[in-house]
Amino acid sequence: MKVLGIESSCDETACAIVEDGKTILSNVVATQIPFHKIYKGVVPEIASRKHAEWILPVVRQALKEANMTLDEVDAIASTNRPGLMGSLLVGFTFGKTLAWATNKPFIAINHMLGHLYAAQLQSDVEYPFLGLLVSGGHSIICKVNGFDDLEILGTTVDDSVGEAFDKVAKFYGLGYPGGVIIDNLAKKGDPKAARFPVPKLDEKDHRYDVSFSGLKTAVIHQCDMFWQPGYEHSTENMCAAFQETAIKTLVGKLLKAADDTGLKTVVCGGGVAANSRLRAMLAERTDINCIFPPLKLCGDNGAMIAGVAYHFLQRGDRSDMNTVTCARIPQFKRGLDQVRHNK
Ligand code: KG4
Ligand code: ZN
Repeated sequence: MKVLGIESSCDETACAIVEDGKTILSNVVATQIPFHKIYKGVVPEIASRKHAEWILPVVRQALKEANMTLDEVDAIASTNRPGLMGSLLVGFTFGKTLAWATNKPFIAINHMLGHLYAAQLQSDVEYPFLGLLVSGGHSIICKVNGFDDLEILGTTVDDSVGEAFDKVAKFYGLGYPGGVIIDNLAKKGDPKAARFPVPKLDEKDHRYDVSFSGLKTAVIHQCDMFWQPGYEHSTENMCAAFQETAIKTLVGKLLKAADDTGLKTVVCGGGVAANSRLRAMLAERTDINCIFPPLKLCGDNGAMIAGVAYHFLQRGDRSDMNTVTCARIPQFKRGLDQVRHNK
């Protein structure tokens, strides 16, 4: 089954064609970074306008690169949540309309299930396992029982990890998007240069939860307070110390979840899964089998959407034409632990 997957939840206009949830026939990602860079962050109005301008050429390009016509596509999938409302609306309405006009099965996809599936495009992973979903909008540690069956164990109580990277980079004028820039600068710095505070969340109510807003404030407004004697006050050192604290926070909670659940396989996904320190820190843990998507599938793309959509379609699921977009997924907050598709 060949599925055409569309992704437009933030600032990438993307479309891919994936066969049987595994083989990527094409994967086109048109990034809007140059348009948002001057504002040091995503401008939602610009993002939706660019999606509207680019969606048709991007879908055409995906068909061309797969050497296929629309007739040869078996089903269409589009991200409908979570994300920027205006951005979601463009790709989702386009996909839904295309499915309606061609009378093909259509399926609405939760963006975070796509991120979780990205690593599984390349390798089969046996359920259950632990998921670490880290992006610009989310920081989720979950138990994964099936492709659409996540038990949220922990999430952020305030900012996401990606947002912390982006805001620190924005404050220090390092560029946009901040994650990869800080990752690269950190390689030239010493993580011991500053000892930033690690949030101590209540063990009972927040055992697997993370927090990044305090770290962000410390790095932006109180950096000097945490600087260690004898270290040069360089941007590289600041980036290394910030990144080390952020990644240690995530890894600490993830390992706690691995110990408590006995699950020793972890699948990572989302833009922050590209982080080199996160990859290195988890690689040191030889007792844990950590599976990352290739770098080009960490960020937003249509292949992860088409890939996971295949499993819904195989199960006989279809989204009707009344399905709408949704900026947030309330279940991703702590306390409501069962996230099943389309509930
Ligand atoms: O998944 P994604 O592309 O979009 C969302 O769904 O949010 O994630 C984007 C986030 C941004 O915050 C970006 O700074 C971060 O992923 N990111 C990174 C790295 N590459 C991208 N963060 C840390 N290290 C990286 N190498
Ligand atoms: Zn994403």
